[in-house]
Amino acid sequence: MTPFTVTPLADALGAEISGVDLSAPLAPDVIDAIRHAWDTHLVLRFRGQTLSDPQLLAFTRHFGELDPPGPNPYGKPFLAEFPEINVISNIKKDGMPVGNLGDGEAVWHCDMTYIDTPPRAALLYSLRIPPSGGDTYWSNMYLAWDTLPGDLKKQIDGKRAIHDATYNSAGMMRKGMKEVTDPREAPGAHHPLVIRHPDTRRPALYLGRRRNSYIVGMDLDESNALLDALWSHATQPQFTFRQVWRVGDLIMWDNRCTLHRRDAFDPNASREMHRTQIKGGIVTPYETADMVS
Ligand code: OGA
Ligand code: MN
Repeated sequence: MTPFTVTPLADALGAEISGVDLSAPLAPDVIDAIRHAWDTHLVLRFRGQTLSDPQLLAFTRHFGELDPPGPNPYGKPFLAEFPEINVISNIKKDGMPVGNLGDGEAVWHCDMTYIDTPPRAALLYSLRIPPSGGDTYWSNMYLAWDTLPGDLKKQIDGKRAIHDATYNSAGMMRKGMKEVTDPREAPGAHHPLVIRHPDTRRPALYLGRRRNSYIVGMDLDESNALLDALWSHATQPQFTFRQVWRVGDLIMWDNRCTLHRRDAFDPNASREMHRTQIKGGIVTPYETADMVS
């Protein structure tokens, strides 16, 4: 029997878990049940939580090894005491941002796929939210693959794409990067466009981020046209779940089979989230032999 209640939040993905206090030590059967719900729903939400930073770290460790944040534009961890925690915030203290991503839109993306071993998952815990705006959306990439028209499936059969390292989802240039004028020369990992999820074994469309993406070996215009078609398919509203945040929400997402984006919000409002992520491995292709024709 599941030791908590699981309530789906949208048709495509997302579920609310209620009846679990994440600040308390959790029994192995509870963790197993959370893992199972996570594989089923891809994004889990826990409401009404009160978590210290060590408690957020302890909860995260149940699901794998902590993966430190990628380099932020300011060159040092936002929380000196807890460098494994990232801060997502628009708040400034003495003129310096206390966190990343600002107050603008964060465009659709998958986290840190510009490296060979992107994080497997991320957890975002909300401490302050604006009165409106700043909603976050996730999209289900199993569904995007399953429903992809056959001609598009054929066109990406066995192909890989460049996952640009230059810009973050808020459009800020990452530290040490320079502007890219030709996506074929963008720095960043090359990953298969269709992957096999290592735990569920299901195929998923794997797009990373649109900016400076390029399908290796294709003519640039053809690559752009194909990527546009894939992206507009993958981000259709029926594949998504929309999160309207409350203080005390903890959301955890599987970074291998989902994309996410965030709405802009009022620059005069304050939003603050603490975030952890879990180490992942090499991204494995969905073998051509398995492709549905
Ligand atoms: C992230 C991210 C979205 C948000 O933390 O990876 O994209 O809602 N955040 O702030
Ligand atoms: Mn992100």
